[in-house]
Amino acid sequence: MTATIDTAWSNPLRDSRDKRLPRIAGPCSLVIFGVTGDLARRKLMPAVYDLAARGLLPPSFALVGFARRDWDDQDFGQIVHDAVREHSRTPFREEVWERLSEGFRFVQGAFDDDAAFDQLSEVLADLDRQRGTDGNHAFYLSIPPGAFPTVCEQLQRSGLADQTDEHWRRVVIEKPFGHDLTSAQELNAVVNRVFPEDAVFRIDHYLGKETVQNILALRFANQLFDPLWSSHYVDHVQITMAEDIGLGGRAGYYDGIGAARDVIQNHLLQLLALVAMEEPVSFEPRELQNEKIKVLSATRNVLPLELNTARGQYGPGWQGSTEVPGLVDEEGFAQDSITETYAAIAVEVDSRRWAGVPFYLRTGKRLGRRVTEIALVFKRAPHLPFDKTMTEELGENALVIRVQPDEGITLRFGSKVPGSSMQVRDVNMDFSYGQAFTESSPEAYERLILDVLLGEPSLFPVNDEVELSWKILDPVLRAWADSGRPDTYESGTWGPRSADEMMNRVGRTWRRP
Ligand SMILES: NC(=O)c1ccc[n+]([C@@H]2O[C@H](COP(=O)([O-])OP(=O)(O)OC[C@H]3O[C@@H](n4cnc5c(N)ncnc54)[C@H](OP(=O)(O)O)[C@@H]3O)[C@@H](O)[C@H]2O)c1
Repeated sequence: MTATIDTAWSNPLRDSRDKRLPRIAGPCSLVIFGVTGDLARRKLMPAVYDLAARGLLPPSFALVGFARRDWDDQDFGQIVHDAVREHSRTPFREEVWERLSEGFRFVQGAFDDDAAFDQLSEVLADLDRQRGTDGNHAFYLSIPPGAFPTVCEQLQRSGLADQTDEHWRRVVIEKPFGHDLTSAQELNAVVNRVFPEDAVFRIDHYLGKETVQNILALRFANQLFDPLWSSHYVDHVQITMAEDIGLGGRAGYYDGIGAARDVIQNHLLQLLALVAMEEPVSFEPRELQNEKIKVLSATRNVLPLELNTARGQYGPGWQGSTEVPGLVDEEGFAQDSITETYAAIAVEVDSRRWAGVPFYLRTGKRLGRRVTEIALVFKRAPHLPFDKTMTEELGENALVIRVQPDEGITLRFGSKVPGSSMQVRDVNMDFSYGQAFTESSPEAYERLILDVLLGEPSLFPVNDEVELSWKILDPVLRAWADSGRPDTYESGTWGPRSADEMMNRVGRTWRRP
């Protein structure tokens, strides 16, 4: 008789809950600071409604807005209503709205106003009594980063950050997590003085996307890909986040930050960590974080930086069929600014698996298309038993994880062109979320807000990840700061010439997604 081992049972790290069941938050309130802001209106309030519509919020849930406007609870309700009507993913249902809006409260005040935080404390205590939120509060700082220290200190002063065995208190922080290593360390120190690290949820909304979580399923639920997933077969990896839009009204915010800080430091290095990490012992948050931390600790810039990085600012050109101005003509952008709207860097992961495989990370505004993808580009076959002419149209094999839009996975390989002659050309095999599943994917913010309320930290970078990412980026930013103005690239193209040169020098090209 063969003995069978129940691996789920024998692994002490796995809990007994059936992970297929919907996860519903317990009694709690969500306090949003900066509730009049763009993020709250477009993403946060609609996500709260969508969670309620999916039955994932408890009856004893409350949403509290904090801002400077002279609003009462009804005004706030109207603002949430308008945001939900305009931006929610699920259809508006009156009965969901009625139940949810009973728990809306608004507190008026500025961040340095002690009395406003004392009032917030009273409102939350009332909600605990009236709606049974049980003293569990999540504080979402959807505010300018410079205000994080003040709000954390106010939460501490008013006793709202106090943790006990009876209730939890959590804080949610939006990127940017500092603008270099030193400022990130200072920020982490400020936040960790008030909240223990396991109560801090740093939002990198890319990690809330289904396609990004699917990297783990693709890699660790299948036998097919793992043997290929290393320097034996992978030539290089390209991770791209391209936007077709320019800065528009955000020019003032963006000047001094730039593409590398805005995207590479967080989203792209997180994607790299998921692609390059080893299999975690389990999907317990600590295990996942450890594997990502190992990758980020082993990630080095390819040197010299002047040949292995590229940056640029968009000039005039076309966005689709519309003629658009260049960056320096955007309102709020300093004429002599050296802030880049395009950034590309090459890094390597010093590990047995990835030795010698460059990872190219690039992001930019006003590029040819809005697309985010991860492409593993494979080495060419060591020998081709064909006449040269037969494989002239054969490129490199590639596995492309399409993060957005048109979420899915493409496998590109060579195939015989039908006909009496032998000719090989690239073809694509496609998996598309939209076609394979009937369920639509939740918005990243739905998933992440629910995880905050559940205290499930897997998808939130911890302070070590943030600091390691800055350690990778800081030398690049210093080198760029010392070398004058970035190149200009035409809007609607795929970036500056220096980016192509960076790849051509080593016999590679950027993908044109
Ligand atoms: N927008 C996005 O898509 C996006 C994406 C990723 C990350 N983020 C991050 O998310 C955060 C919020 O972004 P946002 O675009 O929503 O910003 P925003 O539109 O500028 O909103 C900022 C909010 O903070 C409030 N505020 C500012 N100073 C205050 C003070 N002293 N006292 C009280 N309230 C104050 C403002 O309230 P008033 O109405 O009273 O001025 C407003 O509600 C930022 O950290 C940003 O970097 C945003």
